Amino acid sequence: MNVRSEFPALAQSVHGKPLVYLDSAATSQKPRAVIDAISHFYERDNANVHRGVHALAERATAQLEDARSTAQHFINAARPDEIVFLRGVTEAVNLVANSFLSERDEIVVTALEHHSNLVPWQRSGVKVRVAGVDERGDLRFDELEKLIGPRTRLVAAAHVSNALGTINPVARIVELAHSRGVPVLLDGAQAAPHLAVDVQRLDCDFYAFSSHKMYGPMGIGVLYGKAALLDAMRPWQSGGEMVQTVSFDSATYQKPPYKFEAGTPDVAAAVGLKAAIEWLSGKKGLLEYEQSLLQYGLGLLREIPGVRLLGAPRERIGVISFTLEGVHPHDVGTILDQEGIAVRTGHLCAQPLLKRLGETAVVRASLAAYNRREDLDALAAGLRKVRETFA
Ligand SMILES: Cc1ncc(COP(=O)(O)O)c(C=O)c1O
Repeated sequence: MNVRSEFPALAQSVHGKPLVYLDSAATSQKPRAVIDAISHFYERDNANVHRGVHALAERATAQLEDARSTAQHFINAARPDEIVFLRGVTEAVNLVANSFLSERDEIVVTALEHHSNLVPWQRSGVKVRVAGVDERGDLRFDELEKLIGPRTRLVAAAHVSNALGTINPVARIVELAHSRGVPVLLDGAQAAPHLAVDVQRLDCDFYAFSSHKMYGPMGIGVLYGKAALLDAMRPWQSGGEMVQTVSFDSATYQKPPYKFEAGTPDVAAAVGLKAAIEWLSGKKGLLEYEQSLLQYGLGLLREIPGVRLLGAPRERIGVISFTLEGVHPHDVGTILDQEGIAVRTGHLCAQPLLKRLGETAVVRASLAAYNRREDLDALAAGLRKVRETFA
């Protein structure tokens, strides 16, 4: 995919070497179209939204709502008011944990979850039950089936694992949970940049994604919720924007999504997200391209002595986690950095999963539209250098 030149950040050198960016699962780089859209907003249209009657306020409001309908169509939600703008998946999960659950509830998650789809549930006081993974890093569906019981109020699962790249069988998960009358939240942080998402076809009840992982700006993300569920949920944060009437004693609230969008939203980020969705939607064949890169990268890493690949999920996206025998992942990452290669090292915000797979820290290389085979060649060469350094 010939898009690299559209990403200004990729043109730089790091430690005197051309940057090889293999950390897109943490956050992606941004194309010029997104950067320009944000600059343009601040240069021309900046104003607060939903309040003013002046031209700039009307323009800014129109752009925010335009971004909402772009996000709606991106995931094929039925209505724009099913799209709540928040800071990202973390905030979306916190919102649902606070507004949808009560302390006596149980929820079921998978062992593949990012901390963001685990810790907020724990903190909300509900009982969290966990369906495990097999040694390949695939969900144990049989465990999930056993865990969903009469007290289960929600199933919350990653669409795609940030640590192993596993694509969860989300349609089956929704079907199973619904057959027992249980709604489903899908964490789409790692899916939205790579897979087509259709929330009506999936029939999931909530779907969350973060702009910054899909070529958009940081600071904004989406919680999709079915209208009836959002309508019944209590507000979480409160203040301006989310109210209809206010007295000194009490307040009445707006309808969703505004009921969940207290305070001034990040309008420029919404504008950037819209540009990112438009950019991404124009990239036909992206998944196939990333899959061929993934296979190429796996082939290269398998040939390096001492590399242990973590998991081998049957369906996966371009995420490769591994260890190098005798070298701490942080040392691997530091030496690669000296070669201009950016990878993730550590627990990947998935400590329970790593523990289950027998590791505490790993190295992760993750792919995006702008990566090329040369990037993976550079990674393989860098890893051979690490081995030589520690020989
Ligand atoms: C699978 C998954 N879920 C949730 C998150 C949290 O997303 P954010 O930090 O944008 O809220 C991440 C970020 O790495 C992730 O990979």
